[in-house]
Amino acid sequence: MKGMILAGGLATRLRPLTLVTNKHLLPVYNKPMIYYPIEAMKSIGIKEVLLTTSPDHAGDFANLLKTGERFDLRLYYAVQQNPKGGIADAIALGKEFASNEQIIVILGDNIFDTKKLKKSISKYQQKSKAAMIFGVKMPTRARQYGVIEIDRNGVVLSIEEKPENPKSDIAQTGIYLYDNRVFDFIKKLKPSQRGELEVTDLNNVYLKEKSLTCELLDWWIDAGTSYDELLRANNQVAEKVKKGEI
Ligand code: G1P
Repeated sequence: MKGMILAGGLATRLRPLTLVTNKHLLPVYNKPMIYYPIEAMKSIGIKEVLLTTSPDHAGDFANLLKTGERFDLRLYYAVQQNPKGGIADAIALGKEFASNEQIIVILGDNIFDTKKLKKSISKYQQKSKAAMIFGVKMPTRARQYGVIEIDRNGVVLSIEEKPENPKSDIAQTGIYLYDNRVFDFIKKLKPSQRGELEVTDLNNVYLKEKSLTCELLDWWIDAGTSYDELLRANNQVAEKVKKGEI
C-alpha cells in the first residue's frame, strides 16, 4: 500500500494566515501541521508517500521535508495545477506513483490517533474490500463535513457533502483507502456545484457497487476548516502530546 497526502488548495477560509504561506505549513502546537499526517503514515507502516501541493508553495514543502528521511519514509512530490480542483483531482495525480498498489489518502490538515487506524487497515487488507472511509461522531458539527449515514450493522447507507439536513451525526474524515480502480473512477466524475471533483462523489461510486466500508474513529480534527478548529487543534494536540497519546 502506498500513501498520498494532499496539501494543495488556497485555504481562503483561513485568510490572512494563508496569504503568503500554505495552510499545511502553519503551526499546530510544536510542529508544522503537515508533520502530523506524515508521522501518521510512518506509524501505520507506509514506506512511500506522494505529497501533492499547490504550485506557489511546492518549494517550501521540499525545503522543509526534503526526501522524508527524517520521518523514516520516502517522500515524492506532485503539483496540483488547479488549486480549486478538489480532493479527487489531487488523488488522480497519484496514478503512476501508485502503480498497481492500493492507496491510503490522508488530507494534510487532518490530525488523529493512529492506533485504531492500524487495525482498520489490516481488516481492509484481509477482506480485500475496495474502499474504506472513516467517520467520527460530531453531534453538533457534522454538517460542516461529508456526512455518513450507517445502519445498525455499520453498513453505509449514504454519504452527503455538507448537507443542510444531515441524516446522521457522523462526519466523514479525510482518511480514505482505495483499490487501484480509483483512478478510473475519478476520470468519470463531474465537478460539483463548487467546481471541485468531490471525494464524496468518488466514495459514492464505491457505495453504489456495495464495496465501501466505514470504520469509526474516536478522535480526529480537521485543523484547516476555520480559525476555531485551528485553535482547537492547537489546544487538543498540546494536551495529547504531553500525555504521549500522539
Ligand atoms: C473535505 C471533504 C469532506 C470531509 C472533509 C474532512 O471537505 O469534502 O467530505 O468531511 O474534507 O476533512 P473540505 O475540507 O474540502 O471542505
